[in-house]
Order: sequence, then C-alpha cells, then structure tokens
Amino acid sequence: MVAEVRPDRLTPEEAEEVVRAIRHGVLRDHQQECRAVVLGRAGTVPRTGGGKVRRRACQEAYLNGTLRAAPSTLHFAAAGTAPPVSGDPRLSHPDEGFRRLIAQVVMGIGRLAQARKGRPAHGVGVSAHGHLRVLDSPDVPEHTFFTSGRQYPVVLRHSNAKGFEDDAVLDGRGAALRVLSGDALDDPLLDVVMVTGSRFIARDAATFARWAMSDPKGQAALLREIPSVAAGLAELIRDPDSYGSVDYHSQAASHFIGCDGRRWFVRYRLTNPEKRPESGFVRPEELRLPLDYVPRRPGDPRSPHLPPRRLPLAGGERRSGLSPSGATAARRRGRRRGTRQHPPVAGGGVPWRDVAAVHLNSVLDPAVGEALGYNVGNAPPELGLVLARSATEPASVNHLRSIAYEVSAARRRGAPSARP
Ligand code: HEM
Repeated sequence: MVAEVRPDRLTPEEAEEVVRAIRHGVLRDHQQECRAVVLGRAGTVPRTGGGKVRRRACQEAYLNGTLRAAPSTLHFAAAGTAPPVSGDPRLSHPDEGFRRLIAQVVMGIGRLAQARKGRPAHGVGVSAHGHLRVLDSPDVPEHTFFTSGRQYPVVLRHSNAKGFEDDAVLDGRGAALRVLSGDALDDPLLDVVMVTGSRFIARDAATFARWAMSDPKGQAALLREIPSVAAGLAELIRDPDSYGSVDYHSQAASHFIGCDGRRWFVRYRLTNPEKRPESGFVRPEELRLPLDYVPRRPGDPRSPHLPPRRLPLAGGERRSGLSPSGATAARRRGRRRGTRQHPPVAGGGVPWRDVAAVHLNSVLDPAVGEALGYNVGNAPPELGLVLARSATEPASVNHLRSIAYEVSAARRRGAPSARP
C-alpha cells in the first residue's frame, strides 16, 4: 500500500499510527494482510497527466526499490514487521488460524453480496414495525437493558434462509429483531438475529466453513463424520403456514452482565405468546441432505407468499398473524466469574426465562426493510458479543458472523465497508 500524507512531515510515532490504521482498514475492508506500507509526500504515487494513478508503475517502483529510495518517501514499513492489528478486537483477538479462516469466509461472502447486490443468505424477507415491552419483573438477574416495564420500538425481519421467492419451498426461516432507541431504523440498541431450530448446523466456525466451502460430496462426507450437522439441518428446514407458527433461536450465546457485575451467557428465542407447540416440521424422509432445503411439494396449493407476505398487517396495535406477541426469552447459562469459559452449544436443559413481549403493528416498505443490515455485534456491552480465539470454540460462530454481516451489508450496498 502506498499512501500520500499531508502535511509532508511525520514523527516516527505518527507514521506508525498511520501504518497501523491502514493495515487495520485493509484487513477489515478487504480481508487481506497489508504486507508493506509506504508513506510519502504528495507526488509519491505516480500518476498520468490526467491525474489517474499509474498502478503498474507504482508496483514496479516498489519492487525495484526506487520507491523506497525516493526523496519524497517518508516512511517504509516492510513485510514481516507488521505490528499486531489493533483497534477492532474481533480482528486482533483471534489466533492466526482463525484470522485466516475469517478472511477466507468473509472474502467469499463479500464477493457474493457485491455480485448479487443483496444478502448472500436470507435474501428474501418481510419486515414489520412494532415495539418490545420488557415484562414487569422479568425472571432474570437485574439488568440495565431489560428493566421492568421498559418499552422500545422494534423492527423485525422474517426471511427465507436460502433466499427463495416462493415461501412454500421448505427452508430455514429467520427472524432478525432490532431494538431501537427512537425512530431511526439504522441506529440499533440491540440486534438479535435468530433462525429456526435450537441448534446451529455447525458446532464452531471451522465446521461451518468446511460445510460452506464443500461441494455436495464433501458435505455428504461431513454429515457422516459429524451427525450433529444433519440434526441441525433437520431442525432448521421448515414448512410453516406463516412465519408466526415457528420458533426462532439465536442459537449462539452472547454476554449478559447483570447490574451487580455478575456475568452470564444467554441465548434468545422468539416464540408465539401462548407457547403453542411449533408446527411445520419436515418429515425426515423428505429431507434430501446434504441439500439444505426441500423444493415445493408437487400439488401444494398454497400461495407462494405466506403471511405476512400475503396478508399485510393492519395498522394499529394489532397482534398480527405474524408472531402475534412473541416472547423473547433470555436463557440463563452457566455463571462466569473470572475464569475463562466458553459458551456452551445448544442443549443442556437450562430453563427459558421470559423477559419481553414483541408486538407488531405495521409492515415496512420493502425498500426500507431490505436495506437494513442486522448484526450480532450490535449490542450494548452488557449484552455484547463473546469473542473466540480459535475457530474451534463455540463462540467462533457468532464472532465470524459478526464480521461477515458487516462486510455483506456494506458490499450489497456498494460501499467498500463500514459498519451498517
Ligand atoms: C447462529 C447461527 C446463525 C443464525 C441464527 C443466522 C441467522 C441469520 C438471519 C436470520 C439472517 C437474516 C438477517 C436479516 O434479516 O437481515 C442472516 C443473514 C446472513 N447470515 Fe446468518 N445466521 C447464522 C450463522 C451465520 C454464519 C456462521 C454465517 C457466515 C459466516 C452467516 C452469514 C450470513 C450472511 C452473509 C447474511 C446476510 C447478511 C446481510 O447482508 O445483512 N450466518 N443470518
């Protein structure tokens, strides 16, 4: 990377600061390690008479050493002397192997989002506006966010995991819930991004990456080797009559730090208010694994648009056909004091505790709803993301996806990066 700086003098500390910022930006936006950084005065970068950068000439000057020796060059940070990436802990915390995996997965996702100008996963959805009310005396340790009776505006987006336009295709279903402080939909307090099934298909980021990057033969081998992947897919793929007739789970754990500083891990789920048993399970013999969906059944008379896509919600405080007043329950996990402990994977018999009810009252204009970029990293510190050091820790799933969502949302909007 060759960059011109102004004013044309830098102290060594300032130069290192700029180099660090460039390396961090390149890693974040392009998932590439920046091997060498050259800083120079205005005029260091060769240009045509019309002002266009002469990339080839710049590369040659770097490779043959003339760039390094040029009087206009102020600072040269060579390969191998890269200081650790600072700033974003999601990039500096992982070990080398996990960092490489993040780069590989996120680069692929970024390319897909850019090419499709849309979400690489969950590409078809419908969003509704409403509010979330914390229950009176919720059954969780005292918390700054889930305070008794507090009400927040929310937006909720339901989606089809594979992005099929036809809702009668048997597929994973998503519910992304954004808790807001005010009217601005792009200023989240908390995003809870959930999908059907209590467990994620992969126990960690390494297994997910293997699944995502394998061809069907490789995926079939993975299903034989790790049976929990098949169990995860069987829970994910659904055939509901409406988005409101299935439960949604965050599947991976995040922090829950009580007012007294005690730390917990939580997972969330969104259910129907009566806690009716879920419907829309797919018979095992219908699954065609490793295919992660089942085509519309021949003769299925249903509209390709299930509620609420077919039946827009009426205005006003109406408990709609969507998820009338789903309860978001914080699931309390093992206490965490001082010692390092990884969030557990699904299961384990820890009881669900109801914390809030969600009421939806109007469907959002698709152009507005589809432009939103949810992210599991959008949370106050006391409900924040759990970081992983390695790609085989359970926390690596959320860690990886927080970066993937950020890059995906930026690329589908045509922006180089930046948080949504
Ligand atoms: C705990 C496991 C996961 C759950 C519950 C989940 C759920 C969801 C949901 C509901 C959406 C739609 C969000 C919306 O409405 O905008 C979504 C989008 C997406 N998911 Fe996941 N997902 C999981 C894991 C992953 C992983 C491991 C990756 C890849 C690293 C991934 C990649 C994506 C991408 C790229 C999008 C589109 C993001 C955008 O452009 O806004 N997901 N996911």
